[in-house]
Amino acid sequence: MGTEIRDLIEKLYQTSLLEEKELLYLLQNYSKEAALLLAQRANEIRLKHYGDKVYLRGLIEFSNYCHRHCKYCGIRSENDKVSRYRLSEDEIINCIDMGYQLGYRTVVLQGGEDIYYTDDRIVALLERIKEKWPQIAITLSIGEKSYAAYKRFFEAGAERYLLRHETACETLYKSLHPHMSYDNRMRCLRDLKEIGYQVGTGFIVGLPGQNAQHLVEDLMFIKSFKPHMVGIGPFMPQKDTPLGNMPAGTADMTTYLISILRLLQGDLLLPATTSLGSIDPLGREKGLKAGANVVMPNLSPIEVRDKYALYDGKICTGDEAAQCRKCIEKRIEKSGYKVDMGRGDHKNFIASIK
Ligand code: 5AD
Ligand code: FES
Repeated sequence: MGTEIRDLIEKLYQTSLLEEKELLYLLQNYSKEAALLLAQRANEIRLKHYGDKVYLRGLIEFSNYCHRHCKYCGIRSENDKVSRYRLSEDEIINCIDMGYQLGYRTVVLQGGEDIYYTDDRIVALLERIKEKWPQIAITLSIGEKSYAAYKRFFEAGAERYLLRHETACETLYKSLHPHMSYDNRMRCLRDLKEIGYQVGTGFIVGLPGQNAQHLVEDLMFIKSFKPHMVGIGPFMPQKDTPLGNMPAGTADMTTYLISILRLLQGDLLLPATTSLGSIDPLGREKGLKAGANVVMPNLSPIEVRDKYALYDGKICTGDEAAQCRKCIEKRIEKSGYKVDMGRGDHKNFIASIK
């Protein structure tokens, strides 16, 4: 590793700031040694903000119906090979019940953009969950909605929302998301923040057509938007999509970026994602050691697991929720961290919660 890279990493560590061209240089000069130094620095900052805790959130993939056309995604509407499913309200409640018994105090309700789940149905579901488990933190991840809908969900008890920006480059965004609007996605993110959600965004690493400059744009966007969470994972091809023959992203570049994100914004909640664990059997462990502090084990019923196939080679499709819960705890402890089953709020939110 050259002295320039070492100096850049130190500058990032000391000031949480790099200029665009410095970030570009850092990304273009990946080496194992640079990654190791970055990870050590990122780990220090993570310990400072969140200690050695890793927050677990139960992920419920409640529908794989989707009316969108994202070219990388296995559940895009044009894919007629995928067997579609939708959990009923009761089935979702049962999943949460099981999660609660396993110790989860926060759930993520994620789904394709399924027109069956109208705003009214989502509100009814949220009210039911909140009535049964007032102390549970609910995260929604159901795509682009109106300001009014986001506001209703928030008032019905959703406190967090995940909506990845996917890529901050408008041209690349357009090429990967036919019939979608980059501006509307950005509008959604701004609305969510204004309403008061803890907002998670994020991007895919190694998308076909993506270069280091695009990743710099992702980092600059995050620096200016200041989300509470950022989920990133490597691109993984899904054979029945238009990008099914393209090469996957890498665990190395993903963990490198996790470290850079941790240093750019020390208080971020950063998940070691399922796609990172899918591209590399030790990907999630590597993510944690590089600065990540959240893991989202799957709580969906075993019968539907393999149908939420955003990409090929997804892990945990044959494992019961209880198994994943144990498995992940072992992995976290082996990596030198401790499981925290609490709500896992962003630091700035803890004070405001009774
Ligand atoms: N590879 C990696 N990540 C993907 N996602 C969807 N399809 C893929 C894929 N083929 C990610 C998107 C989405 C999240 C739920 O999954 O970033 O926001
Ligand atoms: Fe699901 Fe390991 S986390 S089997």
